[in-house]
Amino acid sequence: MMALKAKIVGGGYYLPDRVLTNADLEQMVDTSDEWIVRRTGIKERRIADNDVYTSDMAFYAARKAIDNTNINPEDLDLIIIATCTPDMYTPNVSCMVQARLGAVNAAAFDISSACTGFISALTVANQFIATGYYKKVLVVGAENLSRMTDYKDRNTCVLFGDGAGAFIFEASEDEGVLATEIGADGVGGKNLTSLAFRDDEAEMAKRVSKNKQTLWMDGSEVLKFAVRTMVQATFDVLEKAGLSIDDVDMIVPHQANIRIIDGAVKRLGIDSEKVFVNIEKYGNMSSACIPIALCEAIEQGKIKKGDTVVLVGFGGGLTWGSAVIKM
Ligand code: UT7
Repeated sequence: MMALKAKIVGGGYYLPDRVLTNADLEQMVDTSDEWIVRRTGIKERRIADNDVYTSDMAFYAARKAIDNTNINPEDLDLIIIATCTPDMYTPNVSCMVQARLGAVNAAAFDISSACTGFISALTVANQFIATGYYKKVLVVGAENLSRMTDYKDRNTCVLFGDGAGAFIFEASEDEGVLATEIGADGVGGKNLTSLAFRDDEAEMAKRVSKNKQTLWMDGSEVLKFAVRTMVQATFDVLEKAGLSIDDVDMIVPHQANIRIIDGAVKRLGIDSEKVFVNIEKYGNMSSACIPIALCEAIEQGKIKKGDTVVLVGFGGGLTWGSAVIKM
C-alpha cells in the first residue's frame, strides 16, 4: 500500500472587521507610522470585539473551510486547534468548536506552540493520516492576541492582531503533505513570555502594564532566531522531501516582521515573488498567520493545484516548524 498523505481539501478564514491602524497606535504610545512601516512592514491589524473570543473566530474559519468541501462536520475524525490565547483553560478551544460544529465523531485537542502552532498541529494531523488512524482532520490556527497585548508597550503593541484560519486534511495516495519538520529551543524561551499563573518579580518588572497576562518580548533576540530558523527549517524540510529550493512554487511564512522575511529570502536564494506576504494588512496573528496567508494565496491564484508549497513558522517557546505540501 502507498503511504497515505494529508491532502488539503478545503480552507477558510475569519478576520474581525475592526481595524487598528498605525495612526491609531500613534495616539496610544510614542510611535510613528513611519517607524512601524520601516521596522516591521505592518500598516494595520484586525482586533476582535470584546465579546468575540478565539473559539468564535476558530468556529467561523472552520465553518467556512467545511463549506468549501463536500464533507459534513460528523465526518471529521479529529479537530486540532493551535492557539496560545484560548478562551478558557478548560474546556479547550477544540472542544468548544467541536460542539458548535456538531462534529460529534471528532476527537478534539489544542496545541500550544505560539506562532509555530499551525505547523505543529498540521504535523500531528499528518501523522494520524499517514498511519491510517484518521481520515479527515480539521486543523485551525486561531488567536485573540489583542487580549494578550500590552498596549502601553511600544516594543510589542504595534505588532499583533487577531484572526483565524482553518484547513481540512483528508487521506490521499497522491498529493498532500510531503514532509514536515518541527523543533524547539527551550533555552531561548525566556525571550518571549506571558505569565498566566506564574509569579515572577523579574518578569513583572519588564512589563510596562504590570499585567501577568501580557506578552513581553526581547524583539532583537527573537528577530535573529527567526531569520536563522526560517532559513534552516525551509532547507531541512525540503531535504527531507528530496527537493531543492528551485522546486518551490511558493513559500508561505509566518508573518512576524517584513525584515525577517526579506532577510530569509536573500539567504534562501529564492525570488521574492515566490514568498507570500500579507503582513501589512494584519500584522502578527501568531498561529493564525500561516493558514490565513495560505487561504489568501490560493484565493488570489498565487497557489494552484499541483504547486509545491513550503509553510514555515517560528516563535514562542522558542519553537519552529516547516512543511512541504504538493497542492
Ligand atoms: O511571532 C513571534 C516571533 N516574533 C518575532 O519574530 C518578532 C521579532 N522582532 C521584531 O520584529 C523586532 O525586533 C521589533 C519590530 C520588535 C523591534 O525592532 P528592532 O529593530 O529589533 O528594534 P529594537 O528593539 O532594537 O529597538 C530599536 C529602537 C529602540 O530605541 P533606542 O533604545 O535605540 O533608543 C526602541 O525603543 O526603536 C525603539 N522602538 C520604537 N520606536 C518607535 C521600539 N518600538 C518602537 C515603536 N515606535 N513602536
